[in-house]
Amino acid sequence: MEALPFSQACENNKGPILSVLQRHLGSARSLLEIGSGTGQHAEFLAGRFPGMSWQASDIAANLPMLRPRIARAGLAEPAALDVDTPDWSCASYDAIFSANVLHIVGRPSVENFFRGLGPHLNPDGLLLIYGPFRYHNAYTSESNARFDHWLKQRDPVSGIRDFEWVDALAEEAGLLLMEDNAMPANNQLLIWRKNPEQDQPPVQQGGSGLRSGQ
Ligand SMILES: C[S@@+](CC[C@H](N)C(=O)[O-])C[C@H]1O[C@@H](n2cnc3c(N)ncnc32)[C@H](O)[C@@H]1O
Repeated sequence: MEALPFSQACENNKGPILSVLQRHLGSARSLLEIGSGTGQHAEFLAGRFPGMSWQASDIAANLPMLRPRIARAGLAEPAALDVDTPDWSCASYDAIFSANVLHIVGRPSVENFFRGLGPHLNPDGLLLIYGPFRYHNAYTSESNARFDHWLKQRDPVSGIRDFEWVDALAEEAGLLLMEDNAMPANNQLLIWRKNPEQDQPPVQQGGSGLRSGQ
């Protein structure tokens, strides 16, 4: 059998991510992952939360890479979800998780990410974002500065985001910052909770409402 797509970074960070998620997702029944990539996080993490349905997703072009590992893990068919589409055609979840996406997509897509997620996060639901961030206009390490330079050379729209900007977008989306966890390799795991007072348009509950991958 052909080797599945593999990211060494995912292998390195999945354990530390699990330790944080275990403190927060005990009562969550459904989770949407945005930008699942190789599916290594979904495969490893979903297995640790047997009472929760894990919906992996990515842009349609990436689904052929994602599908094999999701199938091997016995998880739901990954969904086509592009944060730049105005209608995510998706259900509402107890949690939304995304790793290493905000520094890859352009700034307008980061804005779309936060504008789009509102109807798909249940009241009291959690948003968990993993990746590198800048604080007070400064990198948290020399290696992050080099990584940012490398990202921008590869694609000028990419770049490590300012925590303050991202948190302001989250606040506009009705989210309140709960935790900022420093993680290995100069990453963060940011956690926001959806303000339960926030208006909630009626969408189907998580687990079955996403458009299946194309
Ligand atoms: C660096 S990879 C991260 C993959 C995985 N989450 C990880 O941590 O290894 C960035 C991911 O973002 C996805 N992506 C890029 N543009 C996107 C968009 N507009 N909407 C949703 N996902 C997107 C890519 O297809 C890719 O899987």
